[in-house]
Amino acid sequence: MNKRQTRSFAIIATGVAALVFLGMTIDSHRQFPTLTNADKITPAVTRGKDVWHANNCINCHTLFGEGAYYAPDLTKISQLRGAPYLKAFLKAPERFYDEQRHRRLMPNPNLQDQEIDDLIAFFDWVANVDNQGWPPRPILVTGSSIPGTNLTIAQQNVSGPDPTTEQTPPGARPVTASADPIALGEALFRSAVPACNACHSIAPGVNLAGPTQAGLVARAQQTLDSPAYQGKAETVEAFIRESIVSPSAWLHPGEMYSAGGVSFMPTSYGESLTDEQVEQLVQYLATFK
Ligand code: HEC
Ligand code: HEC
Repeated sequence: MNKRQTRSFAIIATGVAALVFLGMTIDSHRQFPTLTNADKITPAVTRGKDVWHANNCINCHTLFGEGAYYAPDLTKISQLRGAPYLKAFLKAPERFYDEQRHRRLMPNPNLQDQEIDDLIAFFDWVANVDNQGWPPRPILVTGSSIPGTNLTIAQQNVSGPDPTTEQTPPGARPVTASADPIALGEALFRSAVPACNACHSIAPGVNLAGPTQAGLVARAQQTLDSPAYQGKAETVEAFIRESIVSPSAWLHPGEMYSAGGVSFMPTSYGESLTDEQVEQLVQYLATFK
């Protein structure tokens, strides 16, 4: 190529690249209304977004991976937790986390009921945006909740490339795998779908949609010893396993947690969790003496 040919080549190549880039940008913008379900942006969603901004939630959290890495990414929080839990959590975050155990707390944002409903509408909308898999790995910076580990949901129930060999997003703490079944069980307790802690607290006396896990072992032993128990378990561990995979095998007396002989607890865990995961949950829950 002589000098002139080289120059035209450079000009044409730059022009073509610019055109392709422009075309792709326009195409993306054309898709935004569908990808973001623009038709589902109700007044409640907009109000919820205002509550989100007014309270600077983004100073600690991320949405679509954007924001601060102090607290978990909330892009899919509404699918992960469900409205009843979010409502209770946003009213009193301190009921669900223990400063001693988790070493950080979310301050109570002191929201009105209406603001909480609007925020949940906003989270519902966000969760349904087709984010085409972004962020590539959920940023659940919940590591400090598990002493010595920094587990993320990705290591629990998303199959795919080993997250420990992937790059961590800038600012995130390094992810290290742990083989400790109790730590893995605790992570699962918060990340199974639906999450166990949506319905079970671990604080004494705090009963949500399901009974607290505090004192579980002693309670399970009493149940096993009582003539009313009709299930198949003979040990506390077996009782916990049975409670997870066939929730209606034994029910608390009265209809506080069940209706017509059927527990309010989902019956899906026997299928959605592997035997190994159920075992990790059992080991974790067996620490609640
Ligand atoms: C000062 C930092 C901070 C601010 C500000 C903050 N959060 Fe949080 N948030 C946290 C932390 C830390 C957690 C993890 C739970 C914990 O340790 O308390 C959390 C957890 C959550 C969760 C998930 C709870 C769960 O169990 O999965 C939701 C939902 C949430 N925050 C919503 C909000 C909303 C909405 C706002 C704004 C009104 C907000 N947060 C403001 C720190 C913060
Ligand atoms: C939608 C709410 C809900 C979710 C989610 C849920 N549970 Fe439950 N769970 C319940 C209810 C309600 C009961 C009590 C049922 C009864 O005995 O009448 C229960 C009972 C239990 C018990 C027996 C407790 C006792 O005191 O006897 C265990 C153990 C348990 N659940 C573990 C789990 C685990 C582990 C997960 C997650 C994998 C989970 N639960 C998710 C609602 C839930």
